[in-house]
Amino acid sequence: MPSLIGKEVGSIGYGTMRMTWNAEPPSEEVCFETLNTTLELGANFWNGGELYGTPEYNSMHLLNKYFTKYPENADKVVLSVKGGLKKGELIPDGSEENIRRSVDECLRLLDGKKKLDIFECARQDPAFPVEQTIKVLAEYVKEGKIGGIGLSEVDAETIRRAHKVHPIAAVEAEMSLWSTDILHNDIAKTCAELDIPVIAYSPLGRGVLTGAVTSLADIPHDDIRHHMSRFQEENFKHNMKLINEVNELATRKGVVPAQIALAWIRTQSNKPGMPTIIPIPGGTTKDKVVQNMGGAQALTDSEMAEIEAILKEHTVSGARY
Ligand SMILES: NC(=O)c1ccc[n+]([C@@H]2O[C@H](COP(=O)([O-])OP(=O)(O)OC[C@H]3O[C@@H](n4cnc5c(N)ncnc54)[C@H](OP(=O)(O)O)[C@@H]3O)[C@@H](O)[C@H]2O)c1
Repeated sequence: MPSLIGKEVGSIGYGTMRMTWNAEPPSEEVCFETLNTTLELGANFWNGGELYGTPEYNSMHLLNKYFTKYPENADKVVLSVKGGLKKGELIPDGSEENIRRSVDECLRLLDGKKKLDIFECARQDPAFPVEQTIKVLAEYVKEGKIGGIGLSEVDAETIRRAHKVHPIAAVEAEMSLWSTDILHNDIAKTCAELDIPVIAYSPLGRGVLTGAVTSLADIPHDDIRHHMSRFQEENFKHNMKLINEVNELATRKGVVPAQIALAWIRTQSNKPGMPTIIPIPGGTTKDKVVQNMGGAQALTDSEMAEIEAILKEHTVSGARY
């Protein structure tokens, strides 16, 4: 079993982003049922963010309500929270003042109902050296206010520099069948060398690797994906070839595409020279979580070879952002 800040976590985690960030977020009742299901099925590493929603309603508000209702679950969950952006905006602000504002705000909103196990800046502000960011967060660790420090969307060099200042608990990076960059750009290699677990975000390709998206019309009109390069018409048309191949493979194997996508990540994690990789799929309903947690632990060599051939033949059009 993987471990984070000294606590055992399941080999699949859970991303809460769309519970407070979707154009039409699910009801609290649905969220709580879904969160309980993740725990029942062993996904006890949860990812949230100050940025997932508004200053008035984001992950912290939802989690406060959840743990007020289920206080017995607080110690079962390892919670990683992203912040460090300007309040209410999607703009990094790595000043000491803003990092302190963000951590203090998350702690205030959680109100002791749940420990803040890992805090990370959603993006490193290029105006400030990572050493300074980590020094500020290390003070919070020393004071016992946060359990550890993570990084999100950084390069290998930044990981090395940060880790020299204070041990890094986890590195969050996009990884999926249509975002394989970390396998080729030294991030996975560096994390393996420094023994830092990778948190694979958007492991279902923001929903396209679930079989649920067969055309752009399947995505709600006010969804952020419509602003992303890969979801522009020409790119998406091209990218559907890869998606269709994964869907066909899943049908042949008698599983759902999301299970192939997650098992592929877990199999990568088991390879020699690779770090521990914990995917954090979203999925705001119980049924989706049950499906995502129900796949194989790993794929066979021949299944992996089949997928490699698909990825080689169908490269992805459009940048990740
Ligand atoms: N560090 C970063 O910069 C960063 C960026 C993005 C995300 N993240 C983290 O990663 C987590 C997951 O990423 P994500 O939400 O972008 O993408 P994802 O997990 O790749 O895909 C989520 C999408 O797939 C749908 N879905 C999930 N399971 C499904 C199933 N079994 N069948 C059909 N549809 C299914 C979800 O539906 P619903 O609408 O029900 O959710 C949602 O639309 C987030 O919650 C967040 O914690 C981090």
